[in-house]
Amino acid sequence: RLKICINTGGGDAPGLNAVIEAVTMAAHHRQWEVYGIRSGYAGLLNTNDIIRLTPKVVDGIAIQGGTILGSTNKGNPFRMPVCNVAGDCEERDLSGKVLENFKRLGFDALIAVGGDGSMEIAKRFSDLGMPVIGVPKTIDNDLGGTEMTFGFDTATGIATEAIDRLHSTAKSHDRIMVVEVMGRDAGFIALNSGISGNADVILIPEIPFDIDKICAHLMGNELNGRKYGIVVVAEGAMPAGGDVVVKSEAGLGREHVVLGGIAEYVAQEIASRTGKDTRSLVLGHLQRGGSPTTFDRLLALRFGAAAVRAIEAGKLGHMVALKSDRIALVTMAEALSVEKRVDPRGDTVLTARDMDISFGD
Ligand code: F6P
Repeated sequence: RLKICINTGGGDAPGLNAVIEAVTMAAHHRQWEVYGIRSGYAGLLNTNDIIRLTPKVVDGIAIQGGTILGSTNKGNPFRMPVCNVAGDCEERDLSGKVLENFKRLGFDALIAVGGDGSMEIAKRFSDLGMPVIGVPKTIDNDLGGTEMTFGFDTATGIATEAIDRLHSTAKSHDRIMVVEVMGRDAGFIALNSGISGNADVILIPEIPFDIDKICAHLMGNELNGRKYGIVVVAEGAMPAGGDVVVKSEAGLGREHVVLGGIAEYVAQEIASRTGKDTRSLVLGHLQRGGSPTTFDRLLALRFGAAAVRAIEAGKLGHMVALKSDRIALVTMAEALSVEKRVDPRGDTVLTARDMDISFGD
């Protein structure tokens, strides 16, 4: 009869609650005890922040967005910000305390759900002897070792619906609409939603763009009778030559410091070069909210149940992954060894080009 726990790290993604539900049910099925660590690893520093997960607690949560384990962005225990009463803060390595509490509470394994940052932390704990299984999560789909992360399908669907809705308003005013989608340094959300949403231009970090080429494409469309345009820009997209600083790393998170945002920058450049009436918008966290799609829900449930089976089989130190539509186990090192990005020569990009979508290159 094992006693296991689960935490969720990094930003929320639709499907987190489905993982929690599946882990709880699969553990209950084996008559194991399962606990939810709240606030990432912070709950293992403050041991009051742990809740017992039972079938009753998780009943029906798979359809809910967010995570019942609370805010997931509470820092890295290997460099946790610690502040005194005067508000002066310093980063300290509190991993020893996390390990000590984990052992004192008698846990046999931790299921760590998260993206690359969380897998990095999970791997470090695994290397220190903590029995850990990773579950990959991110709307950006940029984690190696798995073909898909849950959250991505939902975020892409929301972006596609937004693009669909932009067509009628753009067309009514002969406008160019520039819409910015999430994805951090990867262009998967922009690429998939842009193709599905019949965009004219898709800008992604993997293919640096040239504003003049974007304008030439849009004006070419105009000559052919399409007087409006939809430009989908990934938040990490950058102009060729890198003459504009579009982002920087800041603290524990990633801050985008484009003056006004990359969408606004692109919109202003298009407007000033073509004279077209142009608007920009940023979809932002809308892409992370609400219920997961069936695909994400099912993938998250499969990942959660597979994580429990991995513990049962003693396969600790691994991450569950999707490979050829089957759930596989990969080492965390494998997951972290690849920075998954859009392949500029891959068939999805080629499909877009065949559909006369420009990447501004
Ligand atoms: O990694 C997921 C993600 O939503 C990225 O697409 C985005 O850049 C970032 O998180 C936003 O982070 P935050 O919620 O901290 O603003």
